[in-house]
Amino acid sequence: MEILSTPSEARQFTRSLRAKGIRIGLVPTMGALHAGHLSLVNQSQQACDATIATIFVNPTQFAPSEDLSRYPRTLEQDYEMLEAAGIAAVFVPRVESMYPPGFSTYVDPPEIARTLEGNCRPEHFRGVTTVVMKLFQAVPADSAFFGKKDYQQWKVIEAMSRDLDVGVDVVACEIIRESDGLALSSRNRYLDPNERRRALRLSMALKELEQAISAGERDVATLQDGMRQVLVSGDGVSQIDYAVIVNANTLVPLSTLDRPAVALIAARVGQTRLIDNRELCFGSKLLGGR
Ligand code: PAJ
Repeated sequence: MEILSTPSEARQFTRSLRAKGIRIGLVPTMGALHAGHLSLVNQSQQACDATIATIFVNPTQFAPSEDLSRYPRTLEQDYEMLEAAGIAAVFVPRVESMYPPGFSTYVDPPEIARTLEGNCRPEHFRGVTTVVMKLFQAVPADSAFFGKKDYQQWKVIEAMSRDLDVGVDVVACEIIRESDGLALSSRNRYLDPNERRRALRLSMALKELEQAISAGERDVATLQDGMRQVLVSGDGVSQIDYAVIVNANTLVPLSTLDRPAVALIAARVGQTRLIDNRELCFGSKLLGGR
């Protein structure tokens, strides 16, 4: 596995593979890898001839009050996991090579970035679109793999890629969970045992939501109330940032479940901010049937 450390090195490596007709999959991450990240790597390995992962804790997507300095960094372990997965290369740039002195150009995120996470974390998606566009330039891949765990991020990157004719196929991968339902996240490392238990409220709220839908409930206000009750009841979450049901494509609020929708939750447990979601599709499959 090659370790690439500057954008020009990464671009040269990627171009030399593509010149040989090798189809490349890109898996951008901030490291502290877990089975969720590895599922993206595996899907890339299956769909493409070679995979390039990136590990970069991107400062521009963290607000000053957020956890940039204490974000988990487990580089040696990450290398071992990626090597074992058999990928071609990992791009691990330093902050100075991504944002050298004088850097001042940013990607203005699409409309869909304004709601939900965009409200709670105003500069966040500007940092994400900027760094992902830079990663697409450094690693001009055929496909790029993102997790539905960060549902809105996926939609933002999809819209950016479409609007700016990026020419990379954006592929979304399903959420990987612990056996008890907790969605895997690098930030789960922050949770003490008591918080870890309380964090289960997010996946429980989504599970109970599906049950209510299976039982026939279609009124979004009622369903959202139900989610919030599960989140806070007993020894629940410390704070709900949002717990909503919105149009799965536009993220616009719904009043009745009458089209493909997604339930999105952001909540704090102690100091740790967690997100989770569940797609509520219509048609042949589901509405609660998964
Ligand atoms: P990070 O949080 O490291 O996540 C990297 C990728 O892994 C994202 O596409 C995310 O959605 C996916 N992922 C995380 N947990 C997952 C899970 N439990 N199941 C499936 N996929 C999961 O997201 C970022 O980094 C950054 O914002 C980045 C896109 C790299 C830009 O800096």
